[in-house]
Amino acid sequence: MTKWSPNSWRSKPIQQVPAYPDLAALKETEARLATFPPLVFAGEARKLKKQLAAVANGEAFLLQGGDCAESFAEHGADNIRDFFRVFLQMAVVLTFAGSQPVVKIGRVAGQFAKPRSSDNETKGDVTWPSYRGDIINGIEFDEKSRVPDPARQEMAYRQSAATLNLLRAFAQGGYASLENVHRWMLGFVADSPQAEKYEALANRITETMDFMRAVGITSESNFALRETDFYTSHEALLLGYEEALTRVDSTSGDWYATSGHMIWIGDRTRQPDHAHIEYCRGIKNPLGLKCGPSLTPEGLLELIDLLNPENEPGRLTLIARFGSDKAAEHLPKLVRAVKSEGRSVVWSCDPMHGNTITAAGYKTRPFERILKEVQTFFDVHQAEGTHAGGIHIEMTGKNVTECTGGARAITAEDLQDRYHTHCDPRLNADQSVELAFLVSELLKKSHVRQPHTQAAE
Ligand code: TRP
Ligand code: MN
Repeated sequence: MTKWSPNSWRSKPIQQVPAYPDLAALKETEARLATFPPLVFAGEARKLKKQLAAVANGEAFLLQGGDCAESFAEHGADNIRDFFRVFLQMAVVLTFAGSQPVVKIGRVAGQFAKPRSSDNETKGDVTWPSYRGDIINGIEFDEKSRVPDPARQEMAYRQSAATLNLLRAFAQGGYASLENVHRWMLGFVADSPQAEKYEALANRITETMDFMRAVGITSESNFALRETDFYTSHEALLLGYEEALTRVDSTSGDWYATSGHMIWIGDRTRQPDHAHIEYCRGIKNPLGLKCGPSLTPEGLLELIDLLNPENEPGRLTLIARFGSDKAAEHLPKLVRAVKSEGRSVVWSCDPMHGNTITAAGYKTRPFERILKEVQTFFDVHQAEGTHAGGIHIEMTGKNVTECTGGARAITAEDLQDRYHTHCDPRLNADQSVELAFLVSELLKKSHVRQPHTQAAE
């Protein structure tokens, strides 16, 4: 294999590259970014890898979620806070139901670049470059917005820094205490049209918290109740930006992507001899790999060889995204291949990207299909004797109307009310917590037996 360096991807074929008209300006921006402070530090990425190793070993569960695409226009404290509140409510429900730690990773503080199915978009007789995410161009359909502008990379960097700063304050400063999160969760249950369905679990958590308080374990006395570890992730699509933030860790001498704790490779950019795999194989962060219907067992094993040659637990998370009607056909053969070759991976389920349809003129995702794909994912792992390790979802803390269904039964006609996404339809706050309660039932069932490791046999 050829020698890796932060820019060795540049000599490989590459997909999904924006057509920057001013390459000199692009180069200048990348050079400036390379002098900026890292957003995350290597020790944190190592700590996350350790926590993901526990997931790979069947001893923890992964919750990964956030916007499809973050936007410059919606960069405010309220949005970040509301997202974090909903995310943590999900985490509490899943922790309790699974009796296992939940590893918490946001699609946040860097999730700006989007792969597109075509380079251009045409409306009437006007054609402009497709919108590729705020780090590249603007969503409005005019020349000024759509022509890729390198200055946006600096804006994205600064927005990521500010978002991460607030999230760190929330996670470590007392806001994320278990008592707070539990209170928010009770508010959700009380307001839900399906309250009776969730009350039993909520009441058991309340009793547990009361008991802990009675014996003196409170968030004042115990930092584990007061704080949580929260990590960031995004798709490593815009490699010039990633390269500029790739730094050597002085303690280990290894290279790390410092744009986020975990980065993932999309289903459209996972060609083994292309640039995105080349970049990702050389950095030491935990990696995600999206697995869609075109991925064969042989293709997957080849990618695992490239991305995790040392079979390091926690290094690689496979994010299955097949669609509710395809998962039962595609997932088992991949799970079997990985298991029989003794590869340590985290299996996570993305029930969003294979379930997008059009209704009433909007891109949407029916909640029932999302749930069905998660259910199939758990069934397959149960049947194969492997660990259903986590979920990966697109969500927001706001009560938008982008996905149909859920306890409040959003219809196709309701979609127009609050359809705000810059890209794919997200679960709203209620749908997200509801999904966590439904997944908690699957988790409870799958944990009746002893947890065991994937490579045990
Ligand atoms: N520190 C534990 C954890 O992160 C408990 C905890 C504190 C927690 N605040 C939380 C769990 C918020 C879920 C959500 O798991
Ligand atoms: Mn998406």
